Amino acid sequence: MGQGIAVIPTAPEVARNADAHYDYRHDSHFYYLSGFAEPEAVLVLIAGKAMQSILFCREKNPEREIWDGFRNGPDAAAEHFGFDAAYPIAQLDEKLAELMADQPTLYYPMGASSEWDARLLKVREAVKAKSRSGIQAPSHLRDVQELLNEMRLIKDYLEQGIMRRAATISCEAHRRAMRFTRPGQFEYEVEAELLHEFCSHGARHPAYTSIVAGGANACTLHYVGNNAPLHDGDLLLIDAGCELEGYAADITRTFPINGKFSAAQKDVYQIVLASQEAAISAARPGNTWDAPHQAALRVLAQGFIDLKLCQGSVESVLETESYKQFYMHRTGHWLGMDVHDVGEYKVDGQWRTLQSGMTLTVEPGCYIRPADNVPQELWNIGIRIEDDVLITPHGNEVLTQQAPKTVEQIEEEMRHE
Ligand code: GLY
Ligand code: MN
Ligand code: MN
Repeated sequence: MGQGIAVIPTAPEVARNADAHYDYRHDSHFYYLSGFAEPEAVLVLIAGKAMQSILFCREKNPEREIWDGFRNGPDAAAEHFGFDAAYPIAQLDEKLAELMADQPTLYYPMGASSEWDARLLKVREAVKAKSRSGIQAPSHLRDVQELLNEMRLIKDYLEQGIMRRAATISCEAHRRAMRFTRPGQFEYEVEAELLHEFCSHGARHPAYTSIVAGGANACTLHYVGNNAPLHDGDLLLIDAGCELEGYAADITRTFPINGKFSAAQKDVYQIVLASQEAAISAARPGNTWDAPHQAALRVLAQGFIDLKLCQGSVESVLETESYKQFYMHRTGHWLGMDVHDVGEYKVDGQWRTLQSGMTLTVEPGCYIRPADNVPQELWNIGIRIEDDVLITPHGNEVLTQQAPKTVEQIEEEMRHE
């Protein structure tokens, strides 16, 4: 950021129905810069000769705090969170007009909220109206998200520590689900076990809605119904991870509901596993973002030929993209405060180079819907294997390796109750 003023609001509270609200979730950019988790707050940063961080937040209010609980209020917020100054949120527009004066550039999350876009431009107009007294309003507008996205892409040591813990708790949840699952249960009963494990470690919320998909449901990529019975002989795909201190884990495991893979299930599973291992090996500094995806695709293409799902050579399967009937998504995404985290995947039109401190998921899969060109014993098999990977100076660290992944590890885990 050159000289200027940046204004970053947190997220609004969102009504669910009547007087009930969704659990509050702060804005990730705001929290990344402030560590402040209350709603109705705005961070202002000023860069120039003097650097300043200023918080606007809810005032102390003994009456409201009886109903809604503790609020820091500006004085305690400034003291405990280390802001240079803090003011009541009700003074935002008036103070912002003062703070904007003579700043050349206004940075804000452009287009993220039409209300904030309009409000900030209105404050700028108010500053402009004072031009006769020699005050200048910012003449440049810049999207602060572009800068923050790049900063958030590289996780520092403290962030890595939190993500490691979020991953460990989520691995425990998957192990618990494997030990719990039996034919005849409902998907939501397994979901309850995941939530229990998250919450009992202090991770109050899943990072995204858990996918607990038995049998054919696993072939619906974003299945969140989680209300079907689990059948003996089917697989169960679970895509679930917790959010801890604002950071996400994102893990998928697929395992047999009765504890033992059938021959056909094992054949498909081993191919997806081999493709995932190839992709993880390709996730290292100096390789491009696309390298893990290409590595996974080559293994999957050969596997699909072996299973008679695709015809021809690996090259022709890749060329014609006939694999897309069974693998239609990419092999991962950045992971961080948001489960699909911020950061560009291409720079100047080229795939980005992986760098130490980046975290990504590696999640190839295979989803076989009934079709004329598919051997019947493979119908309705849906498998995905997803790990969270931190790029290190010389390779990578799989943050989620405690979740059983090989056929042997899974069958062993499922022998325990
Ligand atoms: N759970 C969302 C994803 O895997 O991308
Ligand atoms: Mn994912
Ligand atoms: Mn996932």
